Amino acid sequence: MATNLSRRALLQWLTALGAASLGAGCDSDPANAAPDASAPDASASDAATDASVPDDAAVEAGWTAVPASDEPEPDARFTHGIASGDPLPDAIVLWTRVSPDAGATAAVMVTWQLADDAAFTAGLREGMVSTDGDRDWTVKVDVTGLSAGRTYYYRFRALGAVSPVGRTRTAPTGSVSRLRFAVVSCSSLAHGYFFAYRQLARIADLDAVIHLGDYIYEYGSGTYGNVRAYDPPTEIRTLSDYRRRYAHYHRDADLRAMHRQHPIIPVWDDHEFADNAYLDGAENHTPATEGPFADRKAAAKRAWWEWMPVRDTADGHIFRRLAFGDLADLVMLDTRMWGRAMQPTVVDGGVTDANRALLGDDQERWAFDTLRSSTARWKLLGQQVMMAQLVQFLNNDQWDGYPAARARFFNLLRAMAVQNVVVLTGDIHTSWANELTETPRDASTYDPATSRGALAVEFVVPGISSPGFPPSLANLAPQILAEAPHMKFVDLTRRGFGLLDVTPERVQAAWHHLDDVAQTTARTRVGAVFSVAHGRAALVREESSAEAAPRSDAPALAPSTATRA
Ligand SMILES: [Fe+2]
Repeated sequence: MATNLSRRALLQWLTALGAASLGAGCDSDPANAAPDASAPDASASDAATDASVPDDAAVEAGWTAVPASDEPEPDARFTHGIASGDPLPDAIVLWTRVSPDAGATAAVMVTWQLADDAAFTAGLREGMVSTDGDRDWTVKVDVTGLSAGRTYYYRFRALGAVSPVGRTRTAPTGSVSRLRFAVVSCSSLAHGYFFAYRQLARIADLDAVIHLGDYIYEYGSGTYGNVRAYDPPTEIRTLSDYRRRYAHYHRDADLRAMHRQHPIIPVWDDHEFADNAYLDGAENHTPATEGPFADRKAAAKRAWWEWMPVRDTADGHIFRRLAFGDLADLVMLDTRMWGRAMQPTVVDGGVTDANRALLGDDQERWAFDTLRSSTARWKLLGQQVMMAQLVQFLNNDQWDGYPAARARFFNLLRAMAVQNVVVLTGDIHTSWANELTETPRDASTYDPATSRGALAVEFVVPGISSPGFPPSLANLAPQILAEAPHMKFVDLTRRGFGLLDVTPERVQAAWHHLDDVAQTTARTRVGAVFSVAHGRAALVREESSAEAAPRSDAPALAPSTATRA
């Protein structure tokens, strides 16, 4: 095993492997192989070499065109769209932002309406809430008293205008036979278009969209991707900057379409702050020239809470449990900002330091207590960075950099009579299906053929648009799998999303991949389907055609035209 700890070393290793296996002519610039946002200088030219160019595999059968967007342009007072999130059995968070006249300072009263139908004729509930510039004109309403497992439609009115109609859904209670979630991460707007969000907006039967972070990126235009330019054009550091970046993202029609059709359950990762962030710093933050990191972190956090449809917490923590009846508990973690110590380096001995926190003591205690006491059939663990070991090298930004924290988690799993834990991961812009075991290459404790010794499984979803490895390195996947027996699937180049279908018998994950996000059209196909059965932490690969069919009784999508009151 290599001992170099840096992500750049990972890239160099992979590139060297690629050069050896692919022969002369492959892309030998490790900077172009970045699986995540490395330093901007490393990525300035990646738009020309990333997965935006379909390789030979893209010619295979099974690709279908992603339809053109039909998302309407909202009224100028609601130009950033609407959203909902954090579904409980009896409550849902509704969100929007109003756009008053330029220079206006007076508070704006906003009316929210929620009903059983998109025409707002049945079960109408409504209320008023005030917003102003102190919260960047955003509106967040926690509507309570709702029925479990129900689809609702909602809209806002303010300043003489009406918003588009949104659709949302509360969590079910009691005996639940099936759940459907989309799992997404990493939407670098500069690298292309949000086809994956557009696809999600057409799937009518999702219970929620789980977003594992990197919802925005902090870079200036042209430093990490150059398909689309950013507003503001420079790297974001201040509260005003972060707010403008969220506003820019919310002018994207595909992002708005996704929000309009589904509740979202998000956590942040590093790029909502700065690349490779941790509790009190970030790789992409230099205090000497950019000021105290605490100021930047506070600004980034404030903008996130303003712009995301999540339930506020008194102390700003984002780790939380959302229950979906007896079928699943969704446990969302913050492996990034709450308690994470700085990524260890080669020389500081930190990798073996049991005190080097990833979650922090309080979050870890809460997470373990929550998992241990959960009576739900499945425990879905939504979090940011890959938990499975990369055996060829040490990526210090994922759980590999914090093995003591991972060992404690594995000890917890081993103590649980029936684990049924499914880890959901983003961050790394590539697709993986992993069995989680402490010793993936020790045949005495883990048998990759029978999965004996595996404690849980992990599904890693690709970026919505953030780049994985260039197509020239796609063929490294078999070599990675050969050296890492606990890894059952890897795709290094495709963007897309994961679709999770949960029943009492099994959890099935399907990776929906795109051939291209840098052009204004794209094609999609199912890249892989895996399932894990109740009581067995063992991955089983299925045919793409075995992906579970959508529910036949999906509630109607929200209409694409505003319904005026
Ligand atoms: Fe990312």
